[in-house]
Amino acid sequence: MLPFQTTHLELGVCDYPEHVLEDRWADYAAAQKALGLRYVRIAEFAWSRMEPQPGQYDWAWLDRAIDIYAAAGLEVLLCTPTAAPPAWLVAQHPEILPYGRTGQVKTSGSRRHCDLSSPIYRAFSRRITQAMAERYGQHPAVVGWQTDNEFGWGDTAQSYSPAALKGFQGWLEERYGSLDTLNEAWGNVFWSMEYADWTQIPLPHQAVSEVNPAHALDFLRFSSDQIVQFQAEQVALLRELSPGRFITHNFMGFFSGFDHYRVTAGLDFASWDSYPTGTLQALHEWKLAEPHLAHDFARTGHPDLTGFNHDLYRGMLSESVKNVPSSSADTAQANTSAPLHPTHSPLSTHPSRGFWVMEQQCGQVNWAPSNPLPADGAVQLWTAQAWAHGADVVSYFRWRAATMAQEVMHSGLLRHGERPDRGYAEVEALKPQEFPLSKVQNKVALLHDYESLWLYNLQPHAEGLNYWAQAFAYYRALRALGVDVDIIHPDSDLSGYALVVAPALTLMTPERARHLEAAAQHCQLVFGPRTAFRTVSGRTPETGQFGDLAGLVGAALLHYDSLYPEMTQNVAANPGGSLSTEHQAASHLAWHWAESYELEGAEALYRYRGGPLGGEAAVIRHGNVTVVGAHSESLISEVLKDLLTGAGLSPLPLPEGVRLSRRGGVTLLQNWNTHPVHWQGQELAPVSTRLLQPAEVSI
Ligand code: GAL
Repeated sequence: MLPFQTTHLELGVCDYPEHVLEDRWADYAAAQKALGLRYVRIAEFAWSRMEPQPGQYDWAWLDRAIDIYAAAGLEVLLCTPTAAPPAWLVAQHPEILPYGRTGQVKTSGSRRHCDLSSPIYRAFSRRITQAMAERYGQHPAVVGWQTDNEFGWGDTAQSYSPAALKGFQGWLEERYGSLDTLNEAWGNVFWSMEYADWTQIPLPHQAVSEVNPAHALDFLRFSSDQIVQFQAEQVALLRELSPGRFITHNFMGFFSGFDHYRVTAGLDFASWDSYPTGTLQALHEWKLAEPHLAHDFARTGHPDLTGFNHDLYRGMLSESVKNVPSSSADTAQANTSAPLHPTHSPLSTHPSRGFWVMEQQCGQVNWAPSNPLPADGAVQLWTAQAWAHGADVVSYFRWRAATMAQEVMHSGLLRHGERPDRGYAEVEALKPQEFPLSKVQNKVALLHDYESLWLYNLQPHAEGLNYWAQAFAYYRALRALGVDVDIIHPDSDLSGYALVVAPALTLMTPERARHLEAAAQHCQLVFGPRTAFRTVSGRTPETGQFGDLAGLVGAALLHYDSLYPEMTQNVAANPGGSLSTEHQAASHLAWHWAESYELEGAEALYRYRGGPLGGEAAVIRHGNVTVVGAHSESLISEVLKDLLTGAGLSPLPLPEGVRLSRRGGVTLLQNWNTHPVHWQGQELAPVSTRLLQPAEVSI
């Protein structure tokens, strides 16, 4: 059975047979099928039921559950249960527990109480994966696998355990070869941090004050590699024992704890868990210029927060990302990381090969400080948007609200008492045939890379600003101009793009600089602040910012100014600059960050007005390359609009919360506001979706 023999969006659900009495199973499976669902994902937290005693497996209940789903005509996605080790394992081997930043050992009692760098935990992970795969790997109803569940959840992407310490020291030795090389790469002469033995290197969590960012960066790389290797061991077993099935993992939105490109390598596609109202919290953290935004979208979430993650996960394993080298391989020394894109299973050759939304919110969540009911229509809005951004499958979380334990306040398609909840009717009314599958490929790319993210966020230097906030400002500006965006790794193939935007590409290597120089031959490039500010080991280039990119940019950094959240800096178009006047507003306000440039061939499009940077260049252009040094939403939008127009991409400014997305020949028009919006002579109903016919697409 091939899982992707379909031409349109498919739906699924996360279900927990172990949470309910067995006499409910057949009714649930029949109802799921009747609702139009195709897939059911199960068992990600069921280890204690599969292996109640060490080495003693109880498969009988799972056999019956899978058979019942199969009899109802559902296809089963099984999960390795390693996100929730059973109590007997912890009692037998407390050394599998993860250590937090304070050095405290985390206990069982929730989930993810496991240290992926523990060789003992690794052995148990392989053992349960093998046992499951031997039992179900060739079951005709089992069409695919999810590894583990949400790597890194609960701040567990890094563990500061004795096993991690030992592993980290070995990893560093392999990466650098000699302590002289490491000391030089990290700049350990600063504060007398030079090491004379590998065992002297501590984990970067309990230093008196700020730890050397180079040290912290390598620990993030090491920890990321632990996840890569942990998963690779499961994947190897599943490939061998469950041939022909796909393998994926359910990632989280805006999660920074590991390099998702490397963890996705070896999977058939990425999946992610979409909780649009919960994700609004990011807006509070980022202190956007519009503090009311989270409130305005309390019942739908903001379309660009969700859209960003759809585009991010679609780009994880796209063809264009193949063979991307890790920038960590650019060091002179050994690179211990697994190859980024080993062979995929044959199933990954489906022409669409989109991503999955493995857990789609379909009612209230339980984990934000407040959890408003989603607006009527929100479940359909979210489902349609996911499809338009490249999802092949949307799977709702969860079938029935939990009647026990931590998530009783969380909703499902069924309420606790089994009556359909609000989202149920919306799923019932969906017509997935209206959403044909095809590959999403856009003309505009946004470059994203986790190592730049780590470097940026290790030293944000401005309250409220971080890598995601900066990247989101550019993404949102593009989406508000009606543009579809591919989010891809900076070392990807850029040949198909007319405009490439790199909001926060802090880490630069000579290879990456050459790659970008080649791209600038055929497309427009836009860089944000702090571009090329750091080398692969976290130092600044000896020539300062822009280091290897200086020739391409035609400028050098002059000053940077970090502003308190309530401070602003004025920016105005440079009279006589080459920006077309129709795109020039009188002036813009920069928030959080303003950097200025010394021109070495570039021209100044905008200059700062007043303040310590008064008169200095704020936005510069050199050939096809533009650098925006001021963090200002309106300025970013103006610069992008000008470039999009120049590239013939016809920007179309959209009202807040109204978005256009295209997939195949279909254009989706959505209003995420809970009030109607008048736009282009029509009224868009609150929380609504329209599929535009080709004739209507002139708008
Ligand atoms: C996810 C998780 C689910 C459930 C859900 C609640 O983090 O994978 O198991 O906890 O959140 O929103």
